[in-house]
Amino acid sequence: MVFGKRVKLRAFEPAEADALWRWNHDPDVMRWMDDGYAASLARVRRNLEERAPNAYGDVLYAVEVLADGALIGLVRLRDAEPETGLAALDVYLGEKEYWGRGYATDAVHALCRFGFEDMRLHKISLTVVTENHAAISVYKKVGFVEEGRLRSVFRRDGRWYDQFTMGLLEGELVDGRP
Ligand SMILES: CC(C)(COP(=O)(O)OP(=O)(O)OC[C@H]1O[C@@H](n2cnc3c(N)ncnc32)[C@H](O)[C@@H]1OP(=O)(O)O)[C@@H](O)C(=O)NCCC(=O)NCCS
Repeated sequence: MVFGKRVKLRAFEPAEADALWRWNHDPDVMRWMDDGYAASLARVRRNLEERAPNAYGDVLYAVEVLADGALIGLVRLRDAEPETGLAALDVYLGEKEYWGRGYATDAVHALCRFGFEDMRLHKISLTVVTENHAAISVYKKVGFVEEGRLRSVFRRDGRWYDQFTMGLLEGELVDGRP
């Protein structure tokens, strides 16, 4: 388990598949996310049950609010390799009433700290649609910087959007949490 100031990062339980399925079918949550082909609730549950345990190359954590125990989303560090010290980060909070209260910033900060201190990573990277201002704000608050722009790589409602690539090096993590 990993603790932030106001959230706990812990394993995602198969019994929580309903929440994940609901978030994946919420257009507001998925607005700037790659939603692919919609999966049934049974498939989401089976995927969680059959998922390999968390390990160096794929760490998936549920984000739980310490104050009320609510499950509000997930964070993931994936594709880490000890040989390179590189990994990629994803975050999404599916419970919209918890947006704008600093929980994503706290969760991303806690996961990056875990990545650098416990996994000994050198660099964490991500991509984000350039219109996803809330997510970009979260990433900048913990120290991520824009490193490049991928032109016309994300399509939503018949329009193409650019993505930023962002990166955070060990030693650059900032405590921008409220
Ligand atoms: C993006 C997301 C992770 C943000 O979570 P959150 O808990 O609301 O984030 P925080 O409260 O920690 O911080 C949000 C910041 O964005 C800012 N923000 C929110 N909407 C904004 C907007 N439209 N324009 C600019 N900034 C905005 C907030 O003011 C806040 O910054 P501040 O603390 O400096 O005021 C969450 O909305 C989410 O999961 N969205 C759906 C999935 C997604 O897009 N994930 C990211 C994929 S790359």
